[in-house]
Amino acid sequence: MQIQTLYQEAIRFAAAKHLVQDQKIPGTDLPYVVHLSNVAMEILLAGEHSEKFDLGFAVQVALLHDTLEDTDTTPEELVKWFGYEVAEAVAALSKNPKLPKAEQMVDSLARIRKLRPEVWAVKMADRITNLQPPPPHWNQAKITNYSEEAFLIHAALRQGNDYLAYRLEGKVLEYAKMYDIPMRKEDRTLLLQVGGEGGSIQLVKIEDYFLYSTDETTLSEFVPELKPEELTSKSDVFTSFDKAMVSLLNRYPVFELYPVAVHPDFREKVIPYYQTFVLQPHHDRNWSNHEWEEMLFGKG
Ligand code: NI
Repeated sequence: MQIQTLYQEAIRFAAAKHLVQDQKIPGTDLPYVVHLSNVAMEILLAGEHSEKFDLGFAVQVALLHDTLEDTDTTPEELVKWFGYEVAEAVAALSKNPKLPKAEQMVDSLARIRKLRPEVWAVKMADRITNLQPPPPHWNQAKITNYSEEAFLIHAALRQGNDYLAYRLEGKVLEYAKMYDIPMRKEDRTLLLQVGGEGGSIQLVKIEDYFLYSTDETTLSEFVPELKPEELTSKSDVFTSFDKAMVSLLNRYPVFELYPVAVHPDFREKVIPYYQTFVLQPHHDRNWSNHEWEEMLFGKG
């Protein structure tokens, strides 16, 4: 189907749904559909600047992105009219109201990151569009919080679309300057690094979430036809250290690899996992035990 047709069908559906609630853009008298078309406009321009971008899919997700969160639309309706993938994307872009408020954004970002980069792009486009002069009733704390959230969105999703990541970064800086918000550097901490032959695995904390990545780019020295993107991979994002650690251990034999670094503040958290590993029934002591014990307990 043509993009124009997909656009018209999605905007008609969404506009009608938001109209039932008489929803306006907060702090204005403008109907909500103005916000939706602004997000779609960002996506149309991003599509022009991005390779392998499924514009038809992304435009529908952009126009429908608030239907589950703000209207009486059900996931079944979205599946029926727009298909499963669009419904799944809109669900990921919706906050889970059952979670504590402070966890809702990180949870939504984690679900977005499991989907295609077009969905990451819609979330960035949404925040780009929303970084407007705040409604008059917002106080400084709320404005600062909104800016910090935008910063987190950028940190979590920027790899999804270069063009929108660049736009979002510019908007965040502009907003922070306009409303006197101290800009901070991205809070990224290396918690754990292990290295095997020709590669390494890192567990990092970025803002409020955890993820691990593998990098086997040194292999490309030996196999030049491999592209760097085939040698690096990133995990899902996790909302706690323990969730990330369990997933990492299920995937890689971490304690059989050479320990390169353990962040001192996280040593106490890694130790129980190590102890569980050495207590496994068929575990043979070997060089890696010695290295890990030195790293974790400072034993020579
Ligand atoms: Ni929105």
